[in-house]
Amino acid sequence: MYVLETRTLATAKLPLPSAQLKRPGQPAVLQIYSPKILPLRKLQTRLKGRIRKLHQRKPSPFHLRISYDLVVTSDARFLPKDFRGIPRLQIRAGPAFGTGEHATTRLCLRYVVQFMRKHGSRPKSCRVLDLGCGTGVLGLAAARLGARVEGWDSDPVAVQEAERNLRLNRLGKRVCFRQRDVLRDAVPGTDLIVANLYDHLLLHLLPRFEPHRRAGTTLLLSGILKGQENSIIRTATKLGWKMEHRGRLGRWFCLQFSAR
Ligand SMILES: C[S@@+](CC[C@H](N)C(=O)[O-])C[C@H]1O[C@@H](n2cnc3c(N)ncnc32)[C@H](O)[C@@H]1O
Repeated sequence: MYVLETRTLATAKLPLPSAQLKRPGQPAVLQIYSPKILPLRKLQTRLKGRIRKLHQRKPSPFHLRISYDLVVTSDARFLPKDFRGIPRLQIRAGPAFGTGEHATTRLCLRYVVQFMRKHGSRPKSCRVLDLGCGTGVLGLAAARLGARVEGWDSDPVAVQEAERNLRLNRLGKRVCFRQRDVLRDAVPGTDLIVANLYDHLLLHLLPRFEPHRRAGTTLLLSGILKGQENSIIRTATKLGWKMEHRGRLGRWFCLQFSAR
């Protein structure tokens, strides 16, 4: 996996499989992951002088304990002793977003686990919809705890990665991932919608969830930068949602709403 680090480039303009803005608020560092070095070299030539660094990244294994219910790991072979015996989810570090390390994902994982614990006696009857699934980490976490899950992503590479992680975790028929656009395709009925997207996208999406609010769905929204949380809360409240939890990790917020 090669990583190209640069400053102040808009992700949308880059013809590359996956791009991620690190350390928002500080001097911007854009990390672009690509399995091949060629497109990065071409980009480096095109953007003479603006590229800071091009290097090969050796993924180091990470392990994340969400609670006594779940550990997320990139490589179960290196799992610390204390974490063994806890239900685990293995997520491959690849081109899609969502290893579990990012604050927005970690916050969601915490609330997904809480939600599943609440449905502890009947987890199999619980349906979860993971919008913008990336690696599939959030949906797969819910499935590991018993839910039936559908995950959507508009990026075909992400859907492939999510399916790969599904096979890796042998969660079989309980989960399906589809290439879908959350702004265009009809959102099916479900008990929990989890959406770790960008705040402007969440604002567009909220009115589309009206039938789900009436049906009693719980809504978990993440990917909200500090300063944006109030506009999400205001919009959701106007639409009739009741805020249940407001989680924060660094500059990131995760908000849980229920139908009033
Ligand atoms: C921040 S990542 C979240 C990944 C993972 N769910 C997690 O929590 O780590 C957002 C994902 O949403 C997807 N996405 C962006 N716009 C979308 C859209 N309009 N419809 C579906 N997926 C979209 C991106 O491709 C990306 O994989």
